[in-house]
Amino acid sequence: MATLETTVDGLRLPNPFVIASGPPGTNLRVIKRAFAEGWGAVVAKTVSLDASKVVNVGPRYAKLHSSDQSEVIGWENIELISDRPFETWIDEFKECKDVYPDRVLIASVMEEYNRDAWCEIIGRCEEAGVDGLELNFSCPHGLPERKMGSAMGEDPEILLEVCSWVNEIATVPVWAKMTPNVTRVEDPSRAALAGGCEGISAINTIRSVMGVDLETLRPLPTVEGYTTPGGYSSRAIKPIALRMTMEIAQLIRAEFPGRSLSAIGGVETGEDAAQFVLLGADTVQVCTGVMKFGYHHVGKMCDGLLAFMDKHGFESLSDFRGRSLEFFTTHAELVRMQGERKARQAAEKEAAAAVAGSVKTMLASDGEWDGDDFVQQSEDLAAN
Ligand SMILES: Cc1cc2nc3c(=O)[nH]c(=O)nc-3n(C[C@H](O)[C@H](O)[C@H](O)COP(=O)(O)O)c2cc1C
Repeated sequence: MATLETTVDGLRLPNPFVIASGPPGTNLRVIKRAFAEGWGAVVAKTVSLDASKVVNVGPRYAKLHSSDQSEVIGWENIELISDRPFETWIDEFKECKDVYPDRVLIASVMEEYNRDAWCEIIGRCEEAGVDGLELNFSCPHGLPERKMGSAMGEDPEILLEVCSWVNEIATVPVWAKMTPNVTRVEDPSRAALAGGCEGISAINTIRSVMGVDLETLRPLPTVEGYTTPGGYSSRAIKPIALRMTMEIAQLIRAEFPGRSLSAIGGVETGEDAAQFVLLGADTVQVCTGVMKFGYHHVGKMCDGLLAFMDKHGFESLSDFRGRSLEFFTTHAELVRMQGERKARQAAEKEAAAAVAGSVKTMLASDGEWDGDDFVQQSEDLAAN
């Protein structure tokens, strides 16, 4: 019988589905709900020592719908980290561990570029009994104006320094959460791992502008007639999250074997989770999916992942973690392999006929694009 149970950095999870930092882990009431519904672990909403500086506005969300309006495929937020007092959070962390001693609670923390502040927040969260820490180096809006969040996550030198401060004192596993708003996610990931972090979480939201209202000509979400770029999440970002998962997993394999990876970005189904695990993730985190479907959705996701495992005869996540990583290569190598295959087929008369049939509409060069057949030619290039 296949199992979803997994142990990551010494933390035992009943399944790999983790609540990502955000509204689904924003106070004790909802965290308890997440555990009651069976989530594998919870990363709480990001906390800082001084919540009085955190002031949210409304509306703070904007959605991108499919053309028929039936589905939300993208979600922008300009929400800040938690606006609740740090002392309240410490009480809630303690109570949460009293009620759920066996479940994994991870505190997400963010501070300014100040060693004492980082040491204080880490020490106090640990005292409250949290099982792990996630360092938020990735919030793309609001906080970077104060040199926090992604302003730090974009700078590998600062990351190395801050992660080293944290890991000098931390006694529980530490994950560093990466921003996708960089050209090469490997660079900040390498810095965080070199700074002693047990794992990487990726990705946070992608800097975005949801749209412009064509009646008012104001950008969205519109607050007092204005906006500020926000963070994009949900299904639409999954391909970008998968690519970054692959890149970080390759980095971990090559330079930091044994470190962990918690993948985030557009996970809504067990099949989504399977894809992230195939690209090297130990766990998957979900934020917007919970906001769209509710806490009970974890049951469906577990069923979907188990069905995938049963179909392939996998008994545990480690049976297929990172399995698909070997199928990435360079474009030059794709050209070489395809050239070899075509040459082989051309050499065999019967097979050559088959090739002529199956790829008859595929372009041999860009000179063959044609205005009348354009859509069909585009489809053929996706199929062949
Ligand atoms: C409304 C909202 C608030 C968020 N707040 C936080 C936060 O406080 N800390 C953090 O690390 N990430 C935060 N995130 C980012 C999510 O944890 C996650 O990285 C991102 O949304 C991508 O995952 P998803 O597609 O499953 O939502 C927030 C996301 C949303 C949508």
